[in-house]
Amino acid sequence: MEKHITIIKGDGIGPEIVTEAMKVLDAIAEQYDHTWIYKEILAGGCAIDAYGTSLTEEALDACVNSDSVLLGAVGGPKWDQVDPSIRPEKALLGIRKGMGLYANLRPATILPQLAHTSPLRKDIVDRGIDFMVVRELISGVYFGEKTTIEENGELVACDQMMYREHEIRRIAHTAFETARKRKSRVISVDKANVLDTSRLWRKIVHEVASEYPDVEVSDMLVDNCAMQIVKDPSQFDVVVTENMFGDILSDEASMITGSIGLIPSASLGESSVGMYEPIHGSAPDIAGKNIANPIGTILAAAMMLKYSFDLSKESDAIVSAVHETLSQGYRCIDIMEEGMKQLSCSEMGDQIIKNMK
Ligand code: IPM
Ligand code: MG
Repeated sequence: MEKHITIIKGDGIGPEIVTEAMKVLDAIAEQYDHTWIYKEILAGGCAIDAYGTSLTEEALDACVNSDSVLLGAVGGPKWDQVDPSIRPEKALLGIRKGMGLYANLRPATILPQLAHTSPLRKDIVDRGIDFMVVRELISGVYFGEKTTIEENGELVACDQMMYREHEIRRIAHTAFETARKRKSRVISVDKANVLDTSRLWRKIVHEVASEYPDVEVSDMLVDNCAMQIVKDPSQFDVVVTENMFGDILSDEASMITGSIGLIPSASLGESSVGMYEPIHGSAPDIAGKNIANPIGTILAAAMMLKYSFDLSKESDAIVSAVHETLSQGYRCIDIMEEGMKQLSCSEMGDQIIKNMK
């Protein structure tokens, strides 16, 4: 198989972790006889430095015209003062929107090797943590009209939150399809006791649910969901929610697994082309030291093989190698514990590749 992959290393630790994921992809290519043609582009803070904007049209075109995008992380304090219209994060939002990636899949799974590092009580963790947050990614308050005006001598800011039926319908389908491949349970999260967008959300989700009689569906208010995630995460299989609720809940979900550095995510649209990235940020404080944990990005590359290229065997090979590496006691500094063997970012990549053979 031959695939064109757009590479966005981004800022902070981005270049280090993406380099490791590319090493792993190259090892897969060699082992399974595939060809990856990489095209590296700048996006985020580094693009602001180079071109004065976080996402150029050429960069977006490269993403749209490739078979998938692998991204490290963008942003950092260096660009905190730039104009909001060119902030590094705008690149991420621009790519999501420009590629039509409306569905963001963020797994929250606890690995047995790391279960004891969860901040939750052992009896709660022992019930199991394995759910998928399906977050709507290109609508809602993130993409509504933004205004700041002066009124009666003070500033007034407004972010509009809007959802169209079709935007809810398509993400609901993603959630139910995802549930079918898991434990067939969907919890739809909203704030229907307050928001009109949530009342529409609920209505459409239930309409779509009627097409999936084999999938159990229920609703949960977002504040209650935030509580239930730490009280009893074992109740969740698929959580589907709007853009901002999903942003917040997926961070919470990642924390209870004890290791944010290990969690990948996939952003998908109508076609098989997707964008894959770890869910953590650019960690500028540890950038350039070769100590970042590349596992989240390596698992993101594994998700790319599975979801965009339909290469399940190759994807599983990477996931197994990651588990094997952790079982052997290898850790990066973020999850280092007594008695374990600490590896640098690049050594972690090497060890995972060794375990793929
Ligand atoms: C995420 C991030 C982004 C988001 C930021 C960087 C714009 O927090 O991917 O969760 O809010 O979507
Ligand atoms: Mg976030």
